[in-house]
Amino acid sequence: MKKKRILSGMRPTGKLHLGHYVGALENWIKLQDDYDSFHLVADYHVLTTNLNTEHIYENTIEMVIDWLASGLDPNKSPFFRQSQIKEHTELFLLFSMLITKARLERNPTVKEQARDLHIDKIIYGHLGYPILQSADILLYKGEAVPVGEDQVPHIEITREVAKKFNQEYGIVFPEPKPLLTNFARLPGLDGNAKMSKSLNNSILLSDSPDVVQKKLRKAVTDPQKIRRNDPGRPEVCLVFTYHKKFNAAETDEIEQGCRSGKLGCVDCKLKCTSKINEFLAPIIESRRRYEQNINIVVDVLKSGEKRAKEVAVQTMAEVHQKMELG
Ligand code: TRP
Repeated sequence: MKKKRILSGMRPTGKLHLGHYVGALENWIKLQDDYDSFHLVADYHVLTTNLNTEHIYENTIEMVIDWLASGLDPNKSPFFRQSQIKEHTELFLLFSMLITKARLERNPTVKEQARDLHIDKIIYGHLGYPILQSADILLYKGEAVPVGEDQVPHIEITREVAKKFNQEYGIVFPEPKPLLTNFARLPGLDGNAKMSKSLNNSILLSDSPDVVQKKLRKAVTDPQKIRRNDPGRPEVCLVFTYHKKFNAAETDEIEQGCRSGKLGCVDCKLKCTSKINEFLAPIIESRRRYEQNINIVVDVLKSGEKRAKEVAVQTMAEVHQKMELG
């Protein structure tokens, strides 16, 4: 049976953190055998939010190294930069005609992003962010998109755009579905619901063991657990969420220790630190190999871009024909 097509993407904001891994990358890696996957570096999207835009290439390389070091395999699924496949820009323009301004203004993600990044005036391109994302997905006829829950509104818009195109011009596109992880979000070290680079509350996949220890030492815990023996509430503690993810075997014990007051936050954090470091060790090790051979990373992109281009050209030929723009 033909494998279903997946299109996944990330903005190149540099080195990735645990939130990226848990909310996206882990899922991509799991899916890469059962699906025909394409992995996109959203280096146009990153321009919409002014986040480290001066280092797009460097940030792309760092991110792709994290993809590789975490176990994403470019031989199974191509990695490519959006900016190298110009068909994205054309499809973005054509899709811009199929959606209203009011619909885009209702998109909660842009509002959230503007708030988190303290953007007070939203640019046209930022409002159009989900249309560009729709073009990313539909150019490859992605049927499923592995995302965190914050991206679900964009997949909804993608479905609407696909439907509208198909109604107006004839069927070209699938209506893609989001593939969510159980752990769509990992809280930040400051207790924010989301780990995020711009909020400065993240643990990077490339953080050394002592950096992880320092970061966790400062992590916010249950404010009612002040002294070691005070009973705590694991359900409000972000460190407990990390235990659930990275130390599943000891979760019950930790929960009881916390509630009864037997386990203090300092010890709990140390246990968590060592589990996270155990998880990161092979990634850091593999990272080193790529850092010393950047050419491997450059070649991965080059060959991925060749594959992506073939598919993109094919889809655009169909679009041109249906729209009589050929
Ligand atoms: N908007 C996505 C994010 O910030 C990145 C992205 C761009 C994307 N294009 C995509 C994700 C296509 C999935 C499919 O996480």
